[in-house]
Amino acid sequence: MKISNTFLLRKLHQITGIVPLGAFLFVHFFTNSKAMSGKQVFNDAVADIHHIPYLLFVEIFGIFLPLLYHSVYGIIISGEARVNNLRYGYGRNWFYTFQRLTGIFLFFFIFFHILNFRFGLIPGLNMTPVAGNSDLAFDIVAREFSIPWVMALYIVGIAATAWHLAYGFWLFAVDWGIVIGEKAQKYALYGSIALAIGLFAVGTNAAVAFVWKCGLFPKALCEEAEKKGIVEPNKSGRF
Ligand code: HEM
Repeated sequence: MKISNTFLLRKLHQITGIVPLGAFLFVHFFTNSKAMSGKQVFNDAVADIHHIPYLLFVEIFGIFLPLLYHSVYGIIISGEARVNNLRYGYGRNWFYTFQRLTGIFLFFFIFFHILNFRFGLIPGLNMTPVAGNSDLAFDIVAREFSIPWVMALYIVGIAATAWHLAYGFWLFAVDWGIVIGEKAQKYALYGSIALAIGLFAVGTNAAVAFVWKCGLFPKALCEEAEKKGIVEPNKSGRF
């Protein structure tokens, strides 16, 4: 019997993708978006995270172990899956293949990302962990993102994450019998595509906010806000 057919392991794989990993990602993008409000606000948000009681247990059982299980099992089922999009040119088969490809890419990307920021262990790049250095968090991320290939890698990583999670919601809803009829599944798919675009926009805007004062917002809007005193010019308060 194929390991990917083991009912409980497969259900656990699907559930870990939604909670805690999916839930974590929303919180993570929310925190990252605080870069829009400047250095101090972002650093304070990181410091708050590091004051969560029993943080190490939360990280191990809420993030690292589910991530390890979800990615290793995901890679196993990717290897066993039949690539049938060459025989049937349906969009959904391509989406399915893309789900697996983004999953494999994310395995390496997230590994790099955690070593890079959480632990500061990438020789030649950042060697200062964000953990324990929340006062430097904004500067560490900003320095990394000012390197063009790092920024490009993160934009691809954010796109892969946005797709993988949004389409993952759809696969979950269909597999668990939450969305049943053909029409309902079609509209749910549109919803997932919209969510992927939204997550990509929010994630990319947060990344850009570390290097450009206004993120992806037009500069004129930023300057207008400064003139009106809504945000402080050249200080930490922005949007
Ligand atoms: C705008 C882009 C991003 C920025 C600025 C960013 C920033 C950070 C920072 C600073 C940390 C270290 C947190 C700490 O030590 O307190 C971190 C950890 C992490 N990030 Fe990201 N991240 C981004 C995108 C992503 C994406 C696309 C994913 C995933 C799929 C992701 C998944 C994670 C995970 C799993 C951790 C480890 C969490 C932990 O150790 O508690 N991040 N990120």
